[in-house]
Amino acid sequence: LIDTFTLSNGLHIPKIGFGTWQIPSGSDAYDATKTALDLGYRHIDTALAYGNEASVGEAVRDSGIPRDELFITTKLPAEVKTASGARDAFEESSRNLDLGHVDLYLIHAPWPWSDMGSDHRDGNVEVWKVFEELYDAGRTKSVGVSNFAVADLEDLLGRTDVVPHANQIRWFIGNTQDETTAFDREHDILTEGYSPLATGGLLENEQIAEIAAKYDKSVAQVAIRYLLEKDVLPLPKSTTPSRIAANADVDFVLSADDVAALDALEDTTN
Ligand code: A2P
Repeated sequence: LIDTFTLSNGLHIPKIGFGTWQIPSGSDAYDATKTALDLGYRHIDTALAYGNEASVGEAVRDSGIPRDELFITTKLPAEVKTASGARDAFEESSRNLDLGHVDLYLIHAPWPWSDMGSDHRDGNVEVWKVFEELYDAGRTKSVGVSNFAVADLEDLLGRTDVVPHANQIRWFIGNTQDETTAFDREHDILTEGYSPLATGGLLENEQIAEIAAKYDKSVAQVAIRYLLEKDVLPLPKSTTPSRIAANADVDFVLSADDVAALDALEDTTN
């Protein structure tokens, strides 16, 4: 669980992150984060837009785990595409978390959620320049993007200095985002996968269940392990302690044949 990937700037990032999307602030987010930390997770993924940064930060502080053993990701809301907005949002996240630095700061999406696919290339460049300042100042140890497709990345890389260290995208068996993942790899950008269980959509899949039975593992564990086999960092989330534990217990290796069988599965979750 404390195994790490290494970002292009040399920073180590624990291979499995605990996702907190849709976990309500207050005791839900506090308890889930605290449970994850108690069970050995050292990487927590939140966002200003999740509304739960303060609860996550409190759980992290209460855990007593030394700050330098932890990796904390948060995100600039997708709607913010100005430099001053980005500065304000970072300060707000910083205050909410109250953990000193951030380890990875991401642009949550290339476009506002209300207008997916709209063109904000100039805005993304403008906020990225703030990200570069925050990175140079050590306020965040790495910087990245989320939900960026190849065209979004190409534009940003062509117009700014620091290449994103990570790109967090929706990634699961049957939805492997091959083009973006290949582009990330070529540019030494770590691909992080959110919703590795397709937000629960894979759990009833019989073909995955057959493979899981061979390893005496659950469908969720095979689905998470599959990302690791592809060098994609999984960000599973759960509020159930036994599942939080199981999702990090993926220290087994899928055979090449089983990986190939999973590669061939199509997305049936939509
Ligand atoms: P719960 O919080 O009740 O455990 P994803 O990470 O793809 O977005 O999926 C998250 C969803 O999958 C949540 O609804 C979560 O429910 C459920 N889930 C997470 N881990 C497991 C698991 N190991 N087994 C079954 N369901 C899980």
